[in-house]
Amino acid sequence: MDARCAHSGGPLCEGDIEEADGVLQVFCPWHDYDFDLRTGKSGTSLQQKVYEVKLEDGNVYVKHGSCLSLQPFPADQKS
Ligand code: FES
Repeated sequence: MDARCAHSGGPLCEGDIEEADGVLQVFCPWHDYDFDLRTGKSGTSLQQKVYEVKLEDGNVYVKHGSCLSLQPFPADQKS
């Protein structure tokens, strides 16, 4: 799932993850919107982009069309 929230670009990667009725959801720390971790769908009409992942020999592989950044968010983009 993209690290930035589809709503206003919040740090979804820092959101709390909770399970409800067998569904894992992440909650955005900025406005508390929820997103299904598997589908990216929100209780709102928003759709978060999700990616195919594979676990193999202790490594996590993410199927993505471009280079991924492992850098944390710059301090000026946090709220
Ligand atoms: S920025 Fe994520 S809910 Fe608003």
